[in-house]
Amino acid sequence: MKNTEKMSRRDILKKGALGATAVAASTMLGASSVFAQESANNSILAPLSGKTAFITGGARGIGLATAEEFAKAGANIVLFDIATKKVPHVGYALSSERDLASAKAKIESLHVKCLAIKGDVRKLDDLKSAVQKTVDTFGSLDYLIANAGVTQVGAIEDFSAEEIDVVYDINVAGIIKTTQAVAPIMKRQKSGRMVFLSSALGRMGNELFPVYASTKWAIIGFAKSAALSYGKDNITCNVVAPGLVHTPLADNPYVMGKMAPNNPTATFESISESLKPGNPLPVGHLEPEDVAKAIMLFTSEVTTKVTGEVFDISYGSLARSIA
Ligand SMILES: NC(=O)c1ccc[n+]([C@@H]2O[C@H](COP(=O)([O-])OP(=O)(O)OC[C@H]3O[C@@H](n4cnc5c(N)ncnc54)[C@H](O)[C@@H]3O)[C@@H](O)[C@H]2O)c1
Repeated sequence: MKNTEKMSRRDILKKGALGATAVAASTMLGASSVFAQESANNSILAPLSGKTAFITGGARGIGLATAEEFAKAGANIVLFDIATKKVPHVGYALSSERDLASAKAKIESLHVKCLAIKGDVRKLDDLKSAVQKTVDTFGSLDYLIANAGVTQVGAIEDFSAEEIDVVYDINVAGIIKTTQAVAPIMKRQKSGRMVFLSSALGRMGNELFPVYASTKWAIIGFAKSAALSYGKDNITCNVVAPGLVHTPLADNPYVMGKMAPNNPTATFESISESLKPGNPLPVGHLEPEDVAKAIMLFTSEVTTKVTGEVFDISYGSLARSIA
């Protein structure tokens, strides 16, 4: 309590009247509580001010939505993205350099600092230099959102060796390399929070996405191992596992064509609608913001003592799973 009071006085002197109001309100609410973060959305409070979030695959989709939530909470943002539309053996377009630039502009419009770094999670050197740049620029790396991923869809025998390699290299080896690059900084800080993006397909089998599903299971195994490895360094490692999310990973001709092979006019919306009746909650898909808000739970006090866990965000579809 005394520390908080001391900080308040320091911040009041530093930030002036508006800062004083923010700090007072923040103190009442508990600076890093979920409630404080919600208040931050109207830019009165900035509970993550001075913190830095490093987000792979941040140029669009879930990564960008998450960056926006962190930015609203006042954090400095690093968007790390391949920013290359055509990647061999991936069946749909990834983000472009323009996507990455416009993501950076979007984040900066929220009045936080943002680095946009073009890099590939398959390359440890890209990740190491991005992490170094992050620490040189912002002084710390507090949150890792290991989110970059690609999907593959089809029957098991249909996949070429190259297609299998690319999805494993990005989704599994990429997450391991991202952790290798970030962990030394967090260990030195004696603090950090890592969130790994798996999927509802990392919790069950799926005949339409057999290779992708196996990569998403692997991520959970790795995250639990990371939790065991880094707990003593005050680093938490947790997984977020969303159901179907409306992003370009799912809403593209390659994926839609395989999900509704007999219906060439099928859209993401029509497929979502057809999935609704099978789900416990009457929901066919999530928006990226739904996932981003769930990821933010791992910045709050509520999860300080939570590590090695999987948080399912899948409109109840996991209620039928065995545990
Ligand atoms: N969309 C869904 O239905 C869904 C559901 C569950 C889990 N997920 C997972 O969420 C994560 C984000 O997916 P999304 O739906 O936002 O996808 P998305 O395709 O919209 O965004 C992914 C981003 O990652 C980037 N990326 C891809 N390969 C990269 C690489 N090698 N290095 C750096 N960046 C790279 C892309 O350029 C893109 O900007 C993925 O791990 C995905 O598997 C998605």
